[in-house]
Amino acid sequence: MTAPLRVGLAGAGWVTQHHLAGWARMGARAKVVAIADPNAAAARARAGEFDIAQVFDSAGQMLDEAQLDAVDVAAPREFHAEIVRMAARKGLAVLCQKPLAPTLAQARSLVAEVEGRCRLMVHENWRFRPYYRDLAGWLNAGRIGDVVQGQMTLLTSGLIPDAQGQLPALARQPFVALLDRALVMEILIHHIDTLRFLLGDLCLRHARLGHLSPAMKGEDRAFLAFETATQAPIAMLANLAVHGQPPNLVDRLTLIGTHGTIVLDGDTLRCMGAQPGELTYDMPACYAQSYAAAIAHFVDCVASGAPFETAASDNLRTLELVESAYASGAADSQRG
Ligand SMILES: NC(=O)c1ccc[n+]([C@@H]2O[C@H](COP(=O)([O-])OP(=O)(O)OC[C@H]3O[C@@H](n4cnc5c(N)ncnc54)[C@H](O)[C@@H]3O)[C@@H](O)[C@H]2O)c1
Repeated sequence: MTAPLRVGLAGAGWVTQHHLAGWARMGARAKVVAIADPNAAAARARAGEFDIAQVFDSAGQMLDEAQLDAVDVAAPREFHAEIVRMAARKGLAVLCQKPLAPTLAQARSLVAEVEGRCRLMVHENWRFRPYYRDLAGWLNAGRIGDVVQGQMTLLTSGLIPDAQGQLPALARQPFVALLDRALVMEILIHHIDTLRFLLGDLCLRHARLGHLSPAMKGEDRAFLAFETATQAPIAMLANLAVHGQPPNLVDRLTLIGTHGTIVLDGDTLRCMGAQPGELTYDMPACYAQSYAAAIAHFVDCVASGAPFETAASDNLRTLELVESAYASGAADSQRG
């Protein structure tokens, strides 16, 4: 048996409960041996919960002092590039949370600088959700023929006060309220990446971003019109302040093909046409699996030398679409 991959985790915030549960599933293949967060209490709490031997209050100190093979970066986006650069100087493999950097330009210069010096995968886990893997399998098997149109809707009431006057969208991740680039860079980046995974390269034809909630610094609604390489139009409608919708995010995707239609509606995936089918999913299990599968893919590729599916170079294509949305979509700015 080979020795486990020794991993240092930079960040001990909300998302790391899911990272650490994913790493725990790797058993003898990988172990998180160190954790660093300037919030020392948060780092100590995670270390206690997940049996992590070493605790640091800075990622730099962890990289200098711990014996590591890889780093898992789960700090806020503005610190990603700095931590990736430090890890690259030590030749460590890096799994970095999305977005790789706050802007496309910063991400590009980071990728150019570290290319060839470290293995760098973006922790883009949405496409690893089991229902998107199954959907990709149906598409690749030709069950609906060629996709001619598509529509994704992501509508929530998360920014409408609940009975206690709380905004559900911000209860889980309060930092989202403070982001200049909020809905597209923080949330829709996952869906854009997933559409690329399912449909291949996309280009952005039209974007309209908007802002309603006074609690949010950045945009909270978006309409994006993409086109696939075969000119199939794909519409994305997203809004976090929609009356009558659930407070949490539910993915809805319709893909219309030449021989059938696939509809994902929350926990149900249906294929209609010549080869019908229906699958239902345990959503909390799928959420946990998306992190575990992304982490397992990282460990597999580090061990085998195979390319990462979400390599930084590939993720730049997702970031290009995100950046284009901000470049062309800033005009609609009505507040209620
Ligand atoms: N589905 C997903 O993949 C998903 C979900 C949530 C968050 N995220 C991403 O994960 C990252 C963190 O999000 P979160 O929800 O945990 O945020 P959070 O605000 O809950 O936690 C961030 C943590 O990072 C710490 N930190 C700040 N500067 C640091 C530094 N230089 N080095 C190490 N730690 C530092 C903070 O003290 C805090 O504990 C973001 O990039 C976010 O976009 C991804």
